[in-house]
Amino acid sequence: MATLPELARAHSDLDEVRIAHLQNLVSVWGLLADLSFADLVLYARDSRQADGSLVLLGHIRPTTGTTLYRADLVGQVFEPRRRPLIVKAFEAECTVDGAVEVGSERTVHLTAVPVRRNGETIAVLARERLRPEDRPGSEQERTYLTVFDRFARMLERGEFPYQDEERLRHRTPRVGDGLLLVDSDGRIEFASPNAVSTLHRMGVTRGVTGARFDDTGLGSSMLRSAFARRTAVIDEMERPDEVAVVSHCFPLLDAGTPTGAIVLVRDVTELRRRDRQLVSKDATIREIHHRVKNNLQTISSLLRLQARRLEGEEAREALGESVRRIGAISVVHETLAQSADDEVGFAEIVRPLVRVVEESVSSPLRPVSITVEGDAGVVPGQVATTMAVVLTELLQNAVDHAFPTAQLADPEAGGTDGDSAAGWVRIQLDRRADGLIVRVVDDGVGIPEGFDVADASGLGLTIVRTFVEGELGGHIRLVPVERGRGTVAEVWVPTNRLVGPWGDSRDPV
Ligand SMILES: Nc1ncnc2c1ncn2[C@@H]1O[C@H](COP(=O)(O)OP(=O)(O)O)[C@@H](O)[C@H]1O
Ligand SMILES: [Mg+2]
Repeated sequence: MATLPELARAHSDLDEVRIAHLQNLVSVWGLLADLSFADLVLYARDSRQADGSLVLLGHIRPTTGTTLYRADLVGQVFEPRRRPLIVKAFEAECTVDGAVEVGSERTVHLTAVPVRRNGETIAVLARERLRPEDRPGSEQERTYLTVFDRFARMLERGEFPYQDEERLRHRTPRVGDGLLLVDSDGRIEFASPNAVSTLHRMGVTRGVTGARFDDTGLGSSMLRSAFARRTAVIDEMERPDEVAVVSHCFPLLDAGTPTGAIVLVRDVTELRRRDRQLVSKDATIREIHHRVKNNLQTISSLLRLQARRLEGEEAREALGESVRRIGAISVVHETLAQSADDEVGFAEIVRPLVRVVEESVSSPLRPVSITVEGDAGVVPGQVATTMAVVLTELLQNAVDHAFPTAQLADPEAGGTDGDSAAGWVRIQLDRRADGLIVRVVDDGVGIPEGFDVADASGLGLTIVRTFVEGELGGHIRLVPVERGRGTVAEVWVPTNRLVGPWGDSRDPV
């Protein structure tokens, strides 16, 4: 469906300033529809037709009454003879009232109000409702209709929509939320039942009608500011007991003089309470990640203590590996504890993981340099945890197997602190449309002849395979960089695993 500016540009010769004026009107006209219990329709002259046809630029239904039109009218073009009252309002440049027979039994009561800007009629706003007699006139209805008339006069004078008015990012209050009519001295002339209830919750127990608006506690400077600036003003107050109310004040103007105002009030206590809950829930999750990290560190210390008491080298090494794997998971929780959501920039955790591996290398005879290239984008916390373990295993293998100690320990081969003979390991991150690729490349001795990951029985590669294929739905392969030299371990994780958070049932750790 075309927007108002699109329709106006296509059909009328209204320029951008005039179109902006109509857009301002349409952004607040729900208020006018509600006040008049009627459909509102906006017409402009269709300049493409020589016969003075009209184009229907906008339509809004009231939330306080029933609509006359089930169909969408926007964008229709009408010949002048089909909309005589609208044509008359354009020509006379003043409000025209009349009745129109629709079908055989329906009479539509129509008020056509010229929308003017700097003395020029740029559009006509039509209020269309069934005969007024159809509805018994309560005090509330009479009041709303009078207020609508005051806004209609402002439209005619070009005083509405306002210039430079304040807008809410969220839904602005509607008449049904609660309406106060205030006179030019700041006394409340009328309060809708919902407005009275809201004021009760704010502790205003005495009669609302006749009270001074400033005594309600609803932003005392709001009315003054709206009168002084002759434009809509918004305020939100929150009491110590957490009752929160948004108010939207529309000054009523008569040729530049404020004659009163309407204030729409909306009780947002529940909304704000939920906002606060969400924020604190966020903080709770971060706190939990922090505690998990601390607990993992405690477990690591316990394992280290136990390792020290062991005689067997093999058993001690096994515990050392477990400490390293726990360290990798702990890195992710530490990062999640600092992030606002359950996602991690994967590159952020690679550096700390490298440190985990470096720390586990006790021999100073292996000056392997580990570098990181590329970027992996953000991944869900759960994927980050799994990938952290995988990456650590692959790094550890490169450090353990690619560069047998003897080779690097040989001073003739370049020494322990020069880097010419030292091996290198590169972590390459590559985020593509179809997924994430993480490569660990080394220039070491290479994998044994005929080696296949699928058959590898070591614990490290078994963990890698289970995690990558089982948990992440991806692939892992280990191939030589070139014949008999270096190794590339490549992991691919499909995109669908990199977007949303997973269910807890898939928790691999
Ligand atoms: N980067 C590498 N360079 C050379 N050989 C490797 C490399 N990565 C893995 N391997 C080989 O794969 C084997 C299995 O690795 P893994 O399952 O991690 O067990 P472990 O590290 O305990 O030996 C290693 O023993 C090694 O022979
Ligand atoms: Mg290993």
